[in-house]
Amino acid sequence: MKSRIAKLKRAKNAIILAHNYQLPEIYDVADFIGDSFELAMRARATNAEIIVFAGVKFMAESAKILNPEKKVLLPDLAAGCPLADFATAEKLRERKKEFPEAAVVAYVNSSAAVKAESDVCCTSANAVEICRKLSAQQILFVPDRNLGEWVAEQLPKKKIILWNGHCYVHSKISAETVAAAKKLHPQAAVLAHPECPREIRELADEVLGTGGMLKFVKNSAAIKFLIGTESGMLEKLRRMTSSKKFFALGGECLTMKKITLAKVLHSLENDKFEIEVEAAIAEKARESLERMIKLTGK
Ligand code: 13P
Ligand code: SF4
Repeated sequence: MKSRIAKLKRAKNAIILAHNYQLPEIYDVADFIGDSFELAMRARATNAEIIVFAGVKFMAESAKILNPEKKVLLPDLAAGCPLADFATAEKLRERKKEFPEAAVVAYVNSSAAVKAESDVCCTSANAVEICRKLSAQQILFVPDRNLGEWVAEQLPKKKIILWNGHCYVHSKISAETVAAAKKLHPQAAVLAHPECPREIRELADEVLGTGGMLKFVKNSAAIKFLIGTESGMLEKLRRMTSSKKFFALGGECLTMKKITLAKVLHSLENDKFEIEVEAAIAEKARESLERMIKLTGK
């Protein structure tokens, strides 16, 4: 399957963009593996005709919005993000009425329609930077409560209005698991994704998105790490360095794991499943995504 995928990529001028949580066999066929921000930037810059997105739907949608001329394929349309589903455009419109002064920041883990209702997007890599750079003192942050709360802790002068969404993978990491792992590996550095609940973030040495975790591990003197995010992240860390040891605190994201090699092959062979975003929504969502990119200076 891997060699058929490689041939099809060449013949169709296609690239495969994969999120850090993907399966090892997907890593092997990917042209680039990264965090949500890096993937969006790659999608925006590519000259390839087809982008096969090995990730979840909001990521493929962002790729289509940022590079609308390209054909964007998601190998399994059921690969959604349950966190993104906590916010709908309708609910957001209602909430905005309660806070007319607030700027709306949409975590990229949201639908195109929610992005379209927002002033600017952010990812885990730049949420604090984006909220800090906004002139608004009041921010309505959707849909992840934990990430919003973490931003609020970093920016005490801003009033961050939270949304009641969460990621089940990160919310399931318990303080007991962290304590037991720390007991087994007392020298290990604890890294937690900002989607983790506060009690886990407080037990961590560093709170970082998946891209930040990679950079931190690379420059750290520690040799053992407890990784507070989706367990697929360990593959990326282990491929980066064999001299350090990694232990997973989190479980699997079942929708991320819906993308298999067979589905990637099927996707390339049949141009399935094409992601389309309604023009009016895409235009507004693009403004929010582009504003994020501009604010980060990329
Ligand atoms: P990153 O942008 O940190 O890779 O996070 C994406 C995600 O879905 C986390 O669960
Ligand atoms: Fe969504 Fe959580 Fe899966 Fe990330 S790990 S894609 S936030 S459900």
